[in-house]
Amino acid sequence: MPLSSSSTSLSKSVPRAGSELERSDYITSQHFPRKRCSLIDDARKECEAPVAAEASEQIVFEEDDGRALINLFFTLASDKTHLLSKTLKVFETFEAKIHHLETRKAKDDVQSLEYFVRCEAPLSDVSTLVASVKSNAQRVRTSEEVKFPWFPKKISDLDKCQQLVTQYDPDKDQEHPGFKDPVYRERRQLVADIALKYRHGDLIPRVEYTDSEIATWGKVYRMLRDLYPTHACSEYLDSFRLLEQHCGYGPDSVPQLEDVSRFLKERSGFVLRPVAGLVTARDFLASLAFRVFQCTQYIRHGSKPMYSPEPDCVHELLGHIPMLVDRTFAQFSQNLGLASLGASEEDIEKLATLYWFTVEYGLCKQNGEVRAYGAGLLSSYGELQHSLSDEPEIREFQPEAVAVQPYQDQTYQPIYFVSESFADAKEKFQTFMAGIRRPFFIKFDPYTCSVEVLDDPGKIQGGLEKLNDELKTLSDALTVLVS
Ligand SMILES: [Fe+2]
Repeated sequence: MPLSSSSTSLSKSVPRAGSELERSDYITSQHFPRKRCSLIDDARKECEAPVAAEASEQIVFEEDDGRALINLFFTLASDKTHLLSKTLKVFETFEAKIHHLETRKAKDDVQSLEYFVRCEAPLSDVSTLVASVKSNAQRVRTSEEVKFPWFPKKISDLDKCQQLVTQYDPDKDQEHPGFKDPVYRERRQLVADIALKYRHGDLIPRVEYTDSEIATWGKVYRMLRDLYPTHACSEYLDSFRLLEQHCGYGPDSVPQLEDVSRFLKERSGFVLRPVAGLVTARDFLASLAFRVFQCTQYIRHGSKPMYSPEPDCVHELLGHIPMLVDRTFAQFSQNLGLASLGASEEDIEKLATLYWFTVEYGLCKQNGEVRAYGAGLLSSYGELQHSLSDEPEIREFQPEAVAVQPYQDQTYQPIYFVSESFADAKEKFQTFMAGIRRPFFIKFDPYTCSVEVLDDPGKIQGGLEKLNDELKTLSDALTVLVS
């Protein structure tokens, strides 16, 4: 599906259920022991001072359930030994879970100790916790000054990544061919409701497409199929043949998402989940990190079979799915998604732009010719021809330039970017990713379909051990082959 081109949609974030409620409960509860209330109240007063207010900007890592991980460093006055227990009491008071505690000689005073505490605490209480530590300790500092947006850690978290951008819906967009057709709008909503009810792990319900809907699908299918041999890249053509052979692709019926999802899973590890419309760039890219493609199930209005202002199943099934069958392209797509997790709004916009000019409108070189691999091209008869004509400007794919290239979605693109190959695009993108401002690394675990933040040496060691096992297997396989 296309990402929204609206810059406002890029700035939205997923609400974290319960966090505001927790904060409200904390402030108004009358049942806390007196000492606890007093400590929190004192700390909140300190928070009003500028020095304490800075603490709220120093969260290391924001969790999805309204909790934060914090790295705190401090020293204690050497002549007041009772301050250690008093300071540690602060963590207990705020129900902070201590992950790590150690001491070392202070850099600027070898006679005193510096304490390091890594802890997890309710997000709403981070400022007051830090201020409370400051009231007992000296030289209090935190290790990071960047706040990271919430992102899904496991595949089921994608149930929370469904924030829709609705301005292109037929209910709101007067240019939508279905705007004045209440029957179409009702039907579209009926199909979209499947996605709204869907939860990770469910089978994707089948849609009984009407004769009219199948006719629309068939019209587009036949026209585009004739164009593919001369315009689509070889990976697309190979996959398209497989989909026709094994997955119900053809002009006479609309493939079912559940069937396509199972096929994709076997080929590249990607799966589909139904979506009710256009979602925000952050949510959409996040799903790619887990090899999940959010896919609409309703179909465009029959009056304009070659045009849809919003993503529909024609765009998804003819544009995106064949490319996701290809393993290298699938990996490139996942890398885009992994780069987006926890990224700043500015970087999300760059990644969305990269997505636009590659996954949606990308061209590549093959056997001395330029061919299309972007879904926006391969699902549009007119733009597919336009992209390979002499009209548009063709530039070499360089992620740094592509990421800031202005784009529009009202007419055909005036500029396209051509890659040497998917492998080349993937390699260049890896280099570009190094520039994403995110001082932590994320690793996808295919066994648990979750992502792990590599934020301590133990996790990195575990990753290296797994890698070592894999290298051993490959090395043994090579030995058998050459012996
Ligand atoms: Fe798309």
